[in-house]
Amino acid sequence: MRQPLVAGNWKMHGSRAMARALSQAVVRGTAELDAIEVVLLPPYVLIPRVSEEVADSAVVLGAQNVATAREGAFTGEISAPMLREFGCRYALVGHSERRQLFGETDALVAKRALAALQEDLRPIVCVGETLAEREASETEDVVLRQLDAVLSAVPEAQLGQVVFAYEPVWAIGTGRTATPEQAQAVHALLRERLHRLGAEIGRRARILYGGSVKPGNAGELLAMPDIDGGLIGGASLVADDFLAICEQA
Ligand code: G3P
Repeated sequence: MRQPLVAGNWKMHGSRAMARALSQAVVRGTAELDAIEVVLLPPYVLIPRVSEEVADSAVVLGAQNVATAREGAFTGEISAPMLREFGCRYALVGHSERRQLFGETDALVAKRALAALQEDLRPIVCVGETLAEREASETEDVVLRQLDAVLSAVPEAQLGQVVFAYEPVWAIGTGRTATPEQAQAVHALLRERLHRLGAEIGRRARILYGGSVKPGNAGELLAMPDIDGGLIGGASLVADDFLAICEQA
């Protein structure tokens, strides 16, 4: 069976004091939840602080992005070896905010995923359509194009290390979430594509849902057969909300 994963993407929020308090609350509140994997994705500068707080717990640390190169003249980038040195095990790649606000292309996202894997950092590959794309019935084309770009770059033997996340752009930070049926349909499509590469790959791949997941809607979303956890934005900044979602997973 696939172990459910709940990841908190703090985006560009927080301070050292907030990171300490929130990580401590998550460590305490998830101590008994050993059936699920809990991942925190703070901004880069807060990684050392969160790393200290989660060190003796099952809570796992990750980053919100990763450079394509190991080192070099890449101002503003942070590499996979650097993230590993500070205790990260995961890195988000292809979040829609990176794609939309910073022009990250499918090809760049695939390179980032590969760079993470080369350093034993598990990429969480985000895909998702905009509202205009959904209304133009392009959802399937868009998410499969985004997925295929990564699948064609990553060696099959490493696909087991990759986590996928479906985040419809129109549901991110809007309070408007996909219905469980809408989300399930896209998750099933993604899994079917993975399944084509190998029954085991499809069966084992974890596909998270993200987009306005809150304590009030998490249960029904996470109960869908192809939804293996959540990628949580706003609600991950409120300890009680994040913990309530973890409990429902
Ligand atoms: O990566 C998480 C995300 O984009 C969803 O954000 O605030 O809608 O839960 P939010």
